[in-house]
Order: sequence, then structure tokens, then C-alpha cells
Amino acid sequence: MSDHALTIVSLSFIGLLKLVFCSNSIHYIHHYCSLEVNKTQNAAFQDNVDRLLSDLSSKSYGNRFYNSTSGDNDKKVYGLFLCRGDVSPGVCRDCIDDSTKNLKQNCTHNKDSIVWYEECMLRYSNHSIFATEEEMPWRYWCSVNKVSNTDQFNQSLSTLMNGLVDKAAFGNTTPPFFATGDDKKGGGGISIYCLMQCTPDINGSECQRCLKAAVGGYQETCEGRTWSMIFSPSCQEEGRTIHMWLLQRYCAWFCLAYWLIYVHDRNAKEMIM
Ligand SMILES: *[C@@H]1O[C@H](CO)[C@@H](O)[C@H](O)[C@H]1NC(C)=O
Ligand SMILES: *[C@@H]1O[C@H](CO)[C@@H](O)[C@H](O)[C@H]1NC(C)=O
Ligand SMILES: *[C@@H]1O[C@H](CO)[C@@H](O)[C@H](O)[C@H]1NC(C)=O
Ligand SMILES: *[C@@H]1O[C@H](CO)[C@@H](O)[C@H](O)[C@H]1NC(C)=O
Ligand SMILES: *[C@@H]1O[C@H](CO)[C@@H](O)[C@H](O)[C@H]1NC(C)=O
Ligand SMILES: *[C@@H]1O[C@H](CO)[C@@H](O)[C@H](O)[C@H]1NC(C)=O
Repeated sequence: MSDHALTIVSLSFIGLLKLVFCSNSIHYIHHYCSLEVNKTQNAAFQDNVDRLLSDLSSKSYGNRFYNSTSGDNDKKVYGLFLCRGDVSPGVCRDCIDDSTKNLKQNCTHNKDSIVWYEECMLRYSNHSIFATEEEMPWRYWCSVNKVSNTDQFNQSLSTLMNGLVDKAAFGNTTPPFFATGDDKKGGGGISIYCLMQCTPDINGSECQRCLKAAVGGYQETCEGRTWSMIFSPSCQEEGRTIHMWLLQRYCAWFCLAYWLIYVHDRNAKEMIM
């Protein structure tokens, strides 16, 4: 067999494995509902939410990012979704489908809701979330466990993250504002894999500022932890919400820019494809 044919066969095999073992699998992380309202008085608003969610859902195949509104005046609802830069259109669609179901079930009669999956995020609100100031409570989830070699881990991660902030913001990437990188020797036996992404509706400097604030928030609160999840309202001056998290094997940040960092040990490496 020629090398070429061999490559095709191998790729098909990997493709098949992927299909069998991780076909369109999506991973729910967290949802957050605020501004609970009176059902009776807000039926019309809820109708608009439902309409918006179906609209977002219908646009999820082939778009990684989409924003939309539904209704008018005080019943107007603003929504958007963002799929991670490396997921297929099928995964994106499934993830947004699940997101809409999740919010419908878990956040009815709320005027401001957001749901995160590893593969996507979806949010709606009664005020414009496309470019307005946000005040949400800071939320952290960090593991008790820390990596053992904190100094080396910290340094590797820090170098990696700073490089990726600039790459995501100014690297003219495809998809926009999307960057990944890794450090296989990142801190005493664990490899670190990072992925960062901003929503495409902001510009490079905003993306950079947002991601930098995310890095700062991480360093302040969850540095060296093997598992943590952070949602924060940073970038306040620019009125951007940052949501970020770190998980064991992978950590993730969202600004309305959005980014992820994966930290994983060698043994678990196969899990990330
Ligand atoms: C909701 O609004 C309706 C109509 O204004 C009112 O009758 C009802 O008492 C309110 N319910 C609550 C829980 O406030
Ligand atoms: C999406 O957001 C941009 C601002 O970032 C805005 O100009 C545009 O009108 C929005 N699209 C819809 C359909 O609301
Ligand atoms: C509602 O939230 C819970 C977690 O609190 C989650 O397990 C469940 O799947 C969500 N519902 C839907 C329809 O996704
Ligand atoms: C959103 O809803 C809350 C609660 O009903 C209300 O206080 C706020 O003024 C609304 N915001 C806008 C922009 O309509
Ligand atoms: C980790 O690195 C950052 C950036 O280099 C630094 O600001 C911070 O103090 C370090 N933390 C520890 C615990 O070494
Ligand atoms: C990026 O957007 C912000 C806010 O819209 C604006 O103030 C800034 O000048 C823009 N920067 C560049 C380089 O276009």
C-alpha cells in the first residue's frame, strides 16, 4: 500500500473510532438562572424566550456563533450561542439543542439564564448581552487538590496562557479568536493543554483584555488546583462578562470571549481527541 493509501486507511479508522466512542458526545457543566419572575405577568416574555431558543437552535448547524433577538420593548429577549472552535457542526447542533432543552426545563420564568457545556455555551437575557455592562456574582469552583509541583506548573501554565492570549486575539485564526497549545512537560509529570476562544463579535484588543482578565482571575483564585471552575464578571470596565472554569484534565475560561484550558495527566490523554 502506498503511504497515501495507508494514511487514508488510518484516518478512516480513527474516524470510525471517534464515531464509535465519542460520537457527538457533549458534556454538561453548569447552568445559572437569575432574575426569577412572576409566571402570570411574564407569559409573553417566556413566549419570546421560547421563540428565541428555537431560532438559536435552528441556526446551530453550520454556525459556531450566532446572536439574535425576539420580541419588542420590555418583552424583548437577547440571546447568543458559541460553540467551541474545534467541534464539528453535528456536535455544535447537539450541544445547542441540549442547551435550549436545559434552559427550558431548568430556567423557566427567569429573565437571565446561561448554560455551559464543554462544547458550547448559550445565554439569553432581557437586556442586551451583546455589548453591555454586566454585574453577576463571582462564582468559583476549585478542587481541594493541588498539583504537587506548583511552581513549575504555575510557570508552564503561565507561559502557555500568555502566549495563547495573544495568539487568540491577534493571530488571525480560523475560526476567529481561537487558539490551542500545549506543554507536554508542564509541571512535574502532567501535560497541560490549553484552548482559548473569544466570541467573534468583539475585536482583538477586547479579546486580549478579556482573556488577560480571565488569566488574572484564575491566578488569584484557582492557581495550582487540579480542578476548578470560575464564573466571574471581570472586564467590568468594558462591560464584558467573563466566565471561566478549570477542570481536572481540562480547565476552561469563558469571556463573552470564551476560553478553555485543558490540564491532563499522561494517562488520561487518550480522552482528548
Ligand atoms: C403574579 O401576578 C399575578 C397577576 O398580576 C398576581 O395575581 C399573582 O399574585 C402574582 N403571583 C406572585 C407569586 O407574585
Ligand atoms: C448581533 O450582535 C451585534 C453586536 O455585536 C449586533 O450588531 C447585531 O445586530 C446582532 N444581531 C442580531 C440579529 O441581533
Ligand atoms: C437541568 O439541570 C440538571 C442539573 O441541575 C441537569 O442534570 C438536567 O439535565 C437539566 N435538564 C435538562 C433538560 O438538560
Ligand atoms: C429585566 O427584568 C428585570 C426584572 O423584571 C427588570 O428589573 C429590568 O428592568 C429588566 N431589564 C430591561 C432592560 O428591561
Ligand atoms: C504564578 O505565576 C504568576 C505569573 O508569573 C505569578 O504572578 C504568581 O505569583 C505565581 N504564583 C505562584 C504561587 O508562584
Ligand atoms: C475595539 O473595540 C473597542 C470597543 O468597541 C474600541 O474602543 C476600540 O477602539 C477597538 N479597538 C480596535 C483596535 O479597533
